[in-house]
Amino acid sequence: MATTLISGGTVVSATGRSAADVLVDGEKIVAVLQPGSELLGTDVAASVDRVVDATGKYVIPGGIDAHTHMQLPFGGTEASDTFESGTIAAAHGGTTSIIDFAVQTYGQRIEDGLAAWHEKAGGNCAIDYGFHQIVGDVNEASIEAMKKLPDEGVSSFKLFMAYPGVFYSDDAQILKAMQVSRDTGMLTMMHAENGPAIDVLAQQLVDQGKTDPYYHGIARAWEMEEEATHRAIMLAKLTGAPLYVVHVSAKQAVEQLAWARDKGQNVYGETCPQYLYLSLEDQLGARSDEWGAFEGAKWVCSTPLRSRAEGHQDSMWQALRTNDLQMVSTDHCPFCMKDQKELGLGDFRKIPNGIGSIEHRMDLMYQGVVTGEITLERWVELTSTTPARMFGLYGTKGVIQPGADADIVVYDPNGHTSIGLDKVHHMNMDYSAWEGYEIDGKVDTVMSRGRVVVEDDAYVGAKGDGRYLKRGLSQYLI
Ligand code: URP
Ligand code: ZN
Ligand code: ZN
Ligand code: ZN
Repeated sequence: MATTLISGGTVVSATGRSAADVLVDGEKIVAVLQPGSELLGTDVAASVDRVVDATGKYVIPGGIDAHTHMQLPFGGTEASDTFESGTIAAAHGGTTSIIDFAVQTYGQRIEDGLAAWHEKAGGNCAIDYGFHQIVGDVNEASIEAMKKLPDEGVSSFKLFMAYPGVFYSDDAQILKAMQVSRDTGMLTMMHAENGPAIDVLAQQLVDQGKTDPYYHGIARAWEMEEEATHRAIMLAKLTGAPLYVVHVSAKQAVEQLAWARDKGQNVYGETCPQYLYLSLEDQLGARSDEWGAFEGAKWVCSTPLRSRAEGHQDSMWQALRTNDLQMVSTDHCPFCMKDQKELGLGDFRKIPNGIGSIEHRMDLMYQGVVTGEITLERWVELTSTTPARMFGLYGTKGVIQPGADADIVVYDPNGHTSIGLDKVHHMNMDYSAWEGYEIDGKVDTVMSRGRVVVEDDAYVGAKGDGRYLKRGLSQYLI
């Protein structure tokens, strides 16, 4: 395979930045040439197959989106991005690895659920991919199967305190699964919302004729997230399981995480761009000529978008600075308005839950650097380095150093990205949840294991370039 020199850029890591050239041989980074290095300069440039000019640009480890749902059967339909379309969109946005959720449905064997996900993804991904395991039916057989997941490179599983009758686990099931987490070192990922109570509130709202998408956010009150987060923390404390709470949106849930972390518990959390930028008032409560009050369906996801008046968004940014939240994933779970979100016309409970953002995570988080919410280094840490460490990929992914995979993004701080359906948008959706967002930065060149896959706004990779990532145990735990 070819050699490439990425020259003249500023290499940014989670801990600092420096002018350096990056030498790639085949799939790997072989040298980071700092000023003063004998190799730095024209000699190397003359001998490589290709030079990527990164002058005036940042050179960062490729983004890792640790929470995606390609082709997820959910809400009476299926998430609209395939592994192919979703990973191409990811590559456009500077993300070079995803960790998707293989699903065990109720009554299904875990082995069969995982095999089905390999079937869907294998040979179809533009970038590297790994799996977490959703355990939708904790029973004796599942417990035995879970113990074998680390051998398959699946070192984390997700449980749901929400969605009774679908993925829901009760406290007894959670306790048993967490004991496996303690014994194996696998990370327990938790969807922390009190599902049974939410379902009662939702039914009462519908009975009162409150059926618009806005009421999705009312039914899924922050108290339901705070309570479930606390319960998950206490069950994790009791069992000794490491806990990672997904898609945190309520400031009170962050307070619970901070409280447990201050006591030394192995408890972590992620948030998503939608909880940093979007709100109950502006999005779930939106109206349009085309859809009326159903416009808000575009942003129905769980946990829900929260009230800006209550200050949740600012709390999420702050928690990213204080490390009470450690990383940002998208929870990419796209549905089209036509035929999919539309299923919930007249009843918000039937709107398939999910937002598509995989293409925009790196840009949206970079905008946080521009506005001064986070530092440049924290941007890299939140989007690449910590995801790699949290989910057992660090060293191969999440860092620019000799021996690491050459997953590299050249990012132009002087470029500009206009997001929208007829602008930057490669996801298989008939709308953009980020229509009109303007980013003061731009993905320039994207390299996945030494191959340039995006340049000049075009995808130039090949189907099936992405490889399955057998992950180790978390490298983040104390
Ligand atoms: O609304 C969401 N988050 N859809 C995806 C499934 C989940 O709970 O993560
Ligand atoms: Zn969830
Ligand atoms: Zn999710
Ligand atoms: Zn601008």
